[in-house]
Amino acid sequence: MRVVSGIQPTGNLHLGNYLGAIRNWVRMQDELEDANRAQAAAGGSADENQCLFFLADLHAISMPHDPAELRRATLEMAAALVACGIDPDRSILFNQAQVPAHAEMQWLLNGTARIGWLNRMTQFKDKSGKNREGASAALFTYPVLQAADVLLYQATHVPVGEDQKQHLEFARDVAQKFNNDFASEDAPVFTLPDPITPPDAARIMSLRDGTAKMSKSDPSDMARINLTDDADAIMKKVKKAKTDPEPLPSEAAGLAGRPEALNLVSIYGGLAGTSVDAVLAEFGGQGFGAFKPALGELMVEAIAPITTRFRALLEDREALDAILAKGAAKARKRAAPTLAATYEALGLVRG
Ligand code: TYM
Repeated sequence: MRVVSGIQPTGNLHLGNYLGAIRNWVRMQDELEDANRAQAAAGGSADENQCLFFLADLHAISMPHDPAELRRATLEMAAALVACGIDPDRSILFNQAQVPAHAEMQWLLNGTARIGWLNRMTQFKDKSGKNREGASAALFTYPVLQAADVLLYQATHVPVGEDQKQHLEFARDVAQKFNNDFASEDAPVFTLPDPITPPDAARIMSLRDGTAKMSKSDPSDMARINLTDDADAIMKKVKKAKTDPEPLPSEAAGLAGRPEALNLVSIYGGLAGTSVDAVLAEFGGQGFGAFKPALGELMVEAIAPITTRFRALLEDREALDAILAKGAAKARKRAAPTLAATYEALGLVRG
């Protein structure tokens, strides 16, 4: 297994990122370590299965940004990931900008990606809004860089939230077309990656609007729970979260047409590691006056240790730099064979 995923170092890490993606990264990292141990015990290679997690700083320049802020946010996001449980000794943790193979591979794949496929991407439509003509070319070709990110490492599994699934489908299409056009059937250049999304927390919604996803770019901080929020802020945000006047139903079907209620129950289930039905079996019939404090406490319990580790890691910026430099050196090595095979397949002479 080759697990690869990324996160943009813009804004704070929030509960949607954590439940939708990062917690799965940590889980997969731990599972792969067990698999490697079993393999080594059976006489095989001890690092056959590998996780690569990166900060998508190259993606971050697709939107207007402040360079000093990007530099700061890249180190902070590295600290946040380590605080969540990504272990730089077991997983390869790096930022794209230190691994030029990502940008190179994007260019090589631009020849295969089709404009028609890019035109269908909903993220471009959402982020460019009414000002399509004024959007950056990087925002339009963003999914090609994302395809490069995973294909470069022969990713088999890509843990992401629901909103990134379309980009993964795009990466599969690019891989498939490239293999068809430039490789023989028995020696494909790229592996087709599978997205892995958590069943109940694939799409965590805003606390102010149950139909919009929880997002770093939401202008209202009350709409999201940041992993840096303290207990008071968390309790306040949960208390103020939009709801409806009805009590909670006792089965998931009763949440139809109640997006805010569904979201809060899903978050509870995601944090407690249980299904929506199990949460409703406990809280069905009760109002939000009882449910919200229980949810707030669960959040504080999950987030407080992360925040403590995060703050401690931020004290030592040099250690964070060293983590990223070490991860990038490993990533460059891992990327080299596939990058070389891609140049070769395209007939490009590298000397
Ligand atoms: P980004 O930085 O927006 O989000 C990082 C991860 O968090 C997930 N996520 C959510 N999951 C559930 N509910 C939410 N409200 C929510 N908000 C965010 C995202 O699905 C994602 O998994 N383009 C990517 C970064 C990227 C990448 C890649 C991912 C670049 N290259 C290659 C995977 C593979 C992005 O902007 O994610």
